[in-house]
Formats: sequence, C-alpha cells, structure tokens
Amino acid sequence: MNPQAEELKKVIQAKNPAVYEMLSERGKNIYFPKRGILAQSADANGTKINATIGAAIEDDHSPMRLESIASKINIAPGLTFPYAPSFGRPDIRSKWKSMIYEKNPSLSGVDISLPIVTNALTHGVSMAGYLFIDENDEIISPDLFWDNYDLILSNSYGAKITTFNTFKNGGFDLEAFKNKLNEGPIGKKVVILNFPNNPSGYSPTVAENKAMVEIITEAAGKGNHIVVFCDDAYFGLVFEDGIEKQSIFAELSKAHENILALKLDGPTKEDYVWGFRVGFMTYGIKGGDAELYGALEAKTAGAVRGNISNASNLSQSLLLQAYNSDDYKKQKEEKFNTLKERYNAVKEAISNDSYKEYFNPLPFNSGYFMCVKPIDGIDSEELRHLLNKKYSIGVINLNGLIRIAFAAVAAKDVKELFDGIYAACKEIKG
Ligand SMILES: Cc1ncc(COP(=O)(O)O)c(C=O)c1O
Repeated sequence: MNPQAEELKKVIQAKNPAVYEMLSERGKNIYFPKRGILAQSADANGTKINATIGAAIEDDHSPMRLESIASKINIAPGLTFPYAPSFGRPDIRSKWKSMIYEKNPSLSGVDISLPIVTNALTHGVSMAGYLFIDENDEIISPDLFWDNYDLILSNSYGAKITTFNTFKNGGFDLEAFKNKLNEGPIGKKVVILNFPNNPSGYSPTVAENKAMVEIITEAAGKGNHIVVFCDDAYFGLVFEDGIEKQSIFAELSKAHENILALKLDGPTKEDYVWGFRVGFMTYGIKGGDAELYGALEAKTAGAVRGNISNASNLSQSLLLQAYNSDDYKKQKEEKFNTLKERYNAVKEAISNDSYKEYFNPLPFNSGYFMCVKPIDGIDSEELRHLLNKKYSIGVINLNGLIRIAFAAVAAKDVKELFDGIYAACKEIKG
C-alpha cells in the first residue's frame, strides 16, 4: 500500500474502524497524491518564473487562450481556462456545503464533510462505486431504480443490485426494505436510495422517511456497517404537503457510528444545467469530524484525480456566480412553479376514471416523472410504438411500465398526452 494510503488508513481506523471496513479494496488503496508534481506546483505558487504548471501561460501570466473562445465568456479567464482542483473549486465547495445546510435544516449542528466536485451525478455514483464496491458486493435498492445504475455499478464494479418491492398500498414498502436490509449475515451493507425517484417520481412521506431511518439505524445497531448512497438528483422538486422535503442524508448523518451517508447531488436537475456536468459527493456520519472527513475527501479526490482529473472550471465558476446572485432564488422558484403546474395538470388528467379501464398510475408526488402500468394484455412496447407512430407521443417503456417525463411536457399538452395513451391502449385491446 502506498504510504499516503497508509496514512489515510491510520486516520480512518483511529476515528471509526467501521468506515474503513466499508471501503472497497480500491477505496482502501486510493489516496490523493500530496507529494510529487501537485505538491511541487503548489510550492511554486507565486514564484516569478513558474515552470511547474501543465498549462500554457501568456507573457502577462494570464492563462493562454484563444480570443474566439474568450470573447464568448464574461468571466475572468483565471476562473475559467485553467484546471480546477481535483477536489473542486474551494469557493463552490464551501458554498454548496452551506446550501446543503440551508436546504436540510435538520442538519443544523451536525458535522458533514466538504463536498467533493464530480463530473455531475453519474460520475458521483461511479466514484461511490469505486470507493465502496468490490466485485460481487450487493447493493440494496428499491426495484424501481435509475437504469444507469446497472452500467455504473454492476458493469463497472461488479456489484449485484439486489432489489426489494418499492410500493405497497399506495406508499413505500417499508417492510420489504426492512426484510431486505436484514437478510443474510451481519456485515457490510450498501444501500442506494434515490428520492425523488427516477422512474416513479415518488418521495417518502415524512413518516416513511423517519421509519426508513429507524430501520437503517436498527440494522446498524446489530453490528452491520451500512453505507447509504443518497442519490438526490431531483432534490427540491416535491409537489405535495406531508412529503419529506429534506434528503434522508440529513437524518442518516447523525443516526449511528455504523452508518456512513454519502450524498450524491448537484445542479444538473436542481438548477437546470444538464450539460454543465458538475455534481458533489458529501459524507455524513455520527461523530464524524474534520480529520475523518478530511481522509474521506482525500480518497474521493484521489479517485477523481485518477479518473477525470477534475471537473469543468468554467461550469463551476458559472454556477458559483449564480449562487451568489440576488435573483437566483426567485428564478428557481419560477421554474419550480412551472414544474408544479405540470405536475398538477398530470394529477388532474389522471383523475379521469375511464383511464383505469386500461392503465393505472403508480404513486408519485415529486421529481420529473410518473409511471403508469397498462392492464394485463397490453404490451407496453407495442403501446410505446403505437404512441410514437400514430399519436406523435413519446414515452419510455420500462419493463412493463410506461414512464412519463411530465417535467418535459407543457401543462396545456398533458391532457392530450393521457388521452393519447388511453386511445392507443383501446386500439391495442381492440
Ligand atoms: C436518479 C438519477 N441519478 C443520477 C442522474 C445523473 O445525473 P447527471 O446528469 O448529473 O449525471 C440521473 C439522470 O438522469 C438520475 O435520474
């Protein structure tokens, strides 16, 4: 093991040995190279003639750049053209951290790590796999999950995604979750939870969220070491009262010394910047302190360094300017209201009882999506094709469910969308 990885091992084991046991072999071995080129470059910071940096510099010491690009960017070249640190820009990391506290009041007084910047959430999930998943490790997930987990976690790291039933009696199937978590011997467990959920558009009620935390805490109390990946991609888009608005990360971060919560979030969906490719990984664990978090941050930044080196400086700078702008909150509220209007239009449309003849909605209350399940005898792939070809309506077929991205449909078109599904079902049924 590299001596720098040894150092991190000592810190983590001294602070909380359970956390060290949660790491994958890759995770145990990774470190952020404090010595070598990066350290020597840092030492040379401010020198008159600095020949350490792997980036070209103009004679006036500003970043070398093409005017055809620079002229389009209204931000100082120093904040956009050079590499960002592998950890992410320090300014956006601390800003995002303060925003996590603001959005999750129950974190008040709880220590969490500084977020590490990733190349958006997909990359965050991948780095979580890098750090915590060994070949054949199981990851516990509701059976409705983002299909890309298969590529990110199963194909890349050999994880086995083992699922439990998502819904029972119109709500989250807590019993199925509890049974799955307590299945098999006591040991390391990895759970992935994504709320608001893709594909269902479901977020737990306040009571369900509390019950989930209790189930996880109880399992941790039995000696399990539990890592919970909290995929908060659609954070903030909750459209009903009584639904938990905070991330489950908040409660898990103070629940038990055997529970490591890893928040995977970012502006992709929260701030409507899908192509910017910025995300964050933030750790929370009961009793976590600067030293433990520092070691986890170093490992995470090491994984990023060895994978994409660093995320877009331009995107981070643009986002930071938005977060510091006076209009940011108001503009976000306007977009939220647009999505809520679409959500309400869906609710109104599906209140049409005649639809039940052919399809039924799954529980939904948040996010971008909702799903309907066609009745037996309607092939969802045939339905999707017919909707495309004859009704000019695009939907996703997911193993028998039809996923509807209402976030992408103007409220005025929602009724036509559902009427189209109804008509197509009727045609298939003959
Ligand atoms: C549940 C979930 N997690 C993560 C992502 C990936 O987000 P990003 O575009 O930030 O990589 C998505 C995007 O579709 C998603 O639905």
